[in-house]
This record gives sequence, structure tokens and C-alpha cells, in this order.
Amino acid sequence: MLIREAAADDWPRIWPFWHRIVAAGDTYTWARDTSEEAARALWTSPPKRVYVAEDETTGTIVGSAFVTPNYGGPADRIANAGFMVDPDHGGRGIGRALAEHILAAAREQGFRGMVFNAVVETNPAVKLWRSLGFTILGTVPDAFDHPRDGRVGLHIMYRAL
Ligand SMILES: CC(C)(COP(=O)(O)OP(=O)(O)OC[C@H]1O[C@@H](n2cnc3c(N)ncnc32)[C@H](O)[C@@H]1OP(=O)(O)O)[C@@H](O)C(=O)NCCC(=O)NCCS
Repeated sequence: MLIREAAADDWPRIWPFWHRIVAAGDTYTWARDTSEEAARALWTSPPKRVYVAEDETTGTIVGSAFVTPNYGGPADRIANAGFMVDPDHGGRGIGRALAEHILAAAREQGFRGMVFNAVVETNPAVKLWRSLGFTILGTVPDAFDHPRDGRVGLHIMYRAL
């Protein structure tokens, strides 16, 4: 599997799993019916730097991530990132590999730390982030209406780079 910066013409191969993940309504704080145009802006607008995980044997894009400053001005060395792996290819280590790549890329870009602003507390990804050194700084209680788990909190997670 190749992890590389995305090209503009990769978007049509990101959108199907982006849409599937956001429409499920259990991980991201974006509207479940986000249009393709709005999704593209949310995921790829500068200053975001976008990456893809590509299965080189088939040319299939199986995951994507972005890294971007989480704050501005004097705090612009703290990054934010987002991750999605096509559910058809989940559970095979792609998410972990993408995250390790993005952590290294963010460090190389001069970021000093990374913050996740809204990690659904029942998302199995919490375990992945903790295993990569993120800690939970706090939890906004009862913030997220989960389709199966009911009203759950949103973790703010952080790690130094
Ligand atoms: C989170 C996500 C990127 C993980 O990608 P993935 O390729 O399925 O993850 P991996 O196969 O690398 O698994 C990494 C670890 O996380 C855990 N994990 C991640 N997602 C899991 C899930 N849905 N169910 C169970 N365990 C999960 C696994 O236990 C695994 O641990 P291990 O490496 O010790 O075996 C992917 O599930 C996804 O896109 N989810 C929807 C969007 C999302 O939640 N993004 C993160 C928002 S904070």
C-alpha cells in the first residue's frame, strides 16, 4: 500500500467512502446529507494537505487523511487531522498506517502537537488514537446524537509531536 499526497483527480475515488462514512452519522460532526461539493471543500480546501492510501496492485484508493493547522496566528503550529478508511477495507491496518504517516508528515511540516476536536467517545478509533500516544484532554458531555448509542460525549484528544 502506498501513502502519498492526494492529487486533484483523486477526489472522485475518495467521495464514495467519504459519503458512506458521513451518511452513517456515527463518527463525524458533519451533516449526514453533506453534498459532494461541500464534502470536497470540507476535506480538501487549503490549508488542508490531503493524503491517500492507495492499493498499488489495483489502483484503488482505500483511505484518506488530511492535516491542517487547528488554530491560527501564534497557535498555528498545533495541527488537526482527519482520517477515513473505506469500510470495505477496514480492520486491515490501513488506518494505523495512515495515522503514523500523517504524524510523521505533521512533524516534518513543523507542527508541535496535534489535536482532535471531536472524537465520538464510543468510536473504536479512540483505542487507536490512545495507542498512538493521544490522551483525552476532556469530554464535551452529551454532545453527539449517535444513531445506536444515543447521546454520547465528544473527546478532545491531544498528543505532542
Ligand atoms: C478509524 C479508522 C480510520 C480506522 O481505520 P482501519 O483501517 O479500520 O483501522 P486499523 O485496521 O488500522 O485498526 C487500528 C486499530 O484500531 C482499532 N479499530 C479501529 N477501528 C475499529 C473498528 N471500527 N472496530 C474495531 N476496532 C477498530 C483496532 O482495534 C486496531 O487495533 P490494532 O492495530 O491494535 O489491531 C476507520 O475505522 C474509519 O475510517 N472509521 C470511520 C471514520 C472515523 O471514525 N474516523 C476517525 C474519526 S476520530
